Amino acid sequence: MKFDFTYYNPTKIYFGRTAIDNLAPELEKYGENVLLVYGKASIKKIGLYDKVMEILSDCGKKVVELSGIKSNPTYAQMMEGARLVRENNVDLILAVGGGSVIDCSKGISVSAYCYGDPWERYWINGEQVDNRIVPVASILTMAGTGSEMNGGSVITNEDKMLKNGRVFGPEVYPKFSLLNPEYTVSVPKYQMVSGVFDIMSHLMEQYFSGDDDNTTDYLIEGVLDSLINATRKALKDPEDYEARSNIMWCATLGLNTVTGLSKTQDWEVHMIEHQVGAYTDCAHGVGLAIVSVPYYKHIYKYGIDKFVRYAKKVWGVDTDSMTKEEAALAGIERLAEFIREMGIPTTLREIGASEEMLPLIANSTVLGGGYKILDAQEILDILKECY
Ligand code: NZQ
Ligand code: ZN
Repeated sequence: MKFDFTYYNPTKIYFGRTAIDNLAPELEKYGENVLLVYGKASIKKIGLYDKVMEILSDCGKKVVELSGIKSNPTYAQMMEGARLVRENNVDLILAVGGGSVIDCSKGISVSAYCYGDPWERYWINGEQVDNRIVPVASILTMAGTGSEMNGGSVITNEDKMLKNGRVFGPEVYPKFSLLNPEYTVSVPKYQMVSGVFDIMSHLMEQYFSGDDDNTTDYLIEGVLDSLINATRKALKDPEDYEARSNIMWCATLGLNTVTGLSKTQDWEVHMIEHQVGAYTDCAHGVGLAIVSVPYYKHIYKYGIDKFVRYAKKVWGVDTDSMTKEEAALAGIERLAEFIREMGIPTTLREIGASEEMLPLIANSTVLGGGYKILDAQEILDILKECY
């Protein structure tokens, strides 16, 4: 492999139907004040709220709640949580929900005792965290982001019309995460396929970079294969526990840093989607699906061998009688077919974007780790393709 790396991931994962049994013993390791963070209604509907409250009470915890975390969590909600942490001397932030709830909790964790404005310091300037970090733990209810085992925290600043991601170090990762695939059965189909595409996108963002012979790429191909199979099964039978388990674990593997090791990594689809999200508030994975096909059609020529390999290994395209160009495009077409098979929207128009928004959305960050460094005009052209 071309690059050196250090691998360290401190999140303890409890996976399976009885994962919740590990909550009480884990809680014993922290002080008595807990901030419980959750979304709008789902954890109450599935009975998880009552169960978690019962365990917290049995463990003698004093609980403060921050509910109503939005999909695409906001700076205002994060700062409200930071205030609650300070005022209640919180010892542990327990996030129960999807990526938005967990991301918001990590944001609260680093912001509560921040000197100055955390948005400017940590999300805009990328400064190292130099203040007290409040421990976070999670109970995951929706598979997608991988936030349960990483340092990512994507926050939307509504006043500034910016959705920015920050990847914090292992000290901000959840201390432990409970993953019970049964909780994901109640996720509406639209959100489920959005999560699935998010997982695919994380894997592809890492895969489409570099041209070396890298074990990580073989790993990604395997995870994508498992994800595609499991998704088809779960769409047929939403209660298929095996399929739900595979999707959930693919999500965690997709962004717990192991599938990015020694890769330069692209992330351009995510950078564009984050701005799409800031303007439309769309489901993250839906925005990614819309951007992906036009984006890959725009850049495949710059990494054509990898796109041929993707067509062959991930989608089983018989490329023997094809030119490289035909083979690469056949792989991207199979991706487009899978997006349609899952019933995900394929245009920005469908998620409420207007033509006037496109130049504003095009003003997104370019990281430069993929096969082509885009300029603002190219991003606008891609957005017009998506429209
Ligand atoms: O608010 P509630 O009522 O809980 O409903 C949620 C929400 O409406 C619902 N839901 C979650 N679990 C459910 C359920 N509904 C029924 N049953 C359940 N068991 O699903 C909806 C979406 O939840 P959300 O947490 O917003 O979704 P997701 O996990 O996709 O998170 C999206 C956010 O994560 C960021 C995205 O940008 C977006 O802001 N990301 C975080 C990353 C990270 N930390 O590493 C990386 C990603 O690339 C991504 O950017
Ligand atoms: Zn994502």
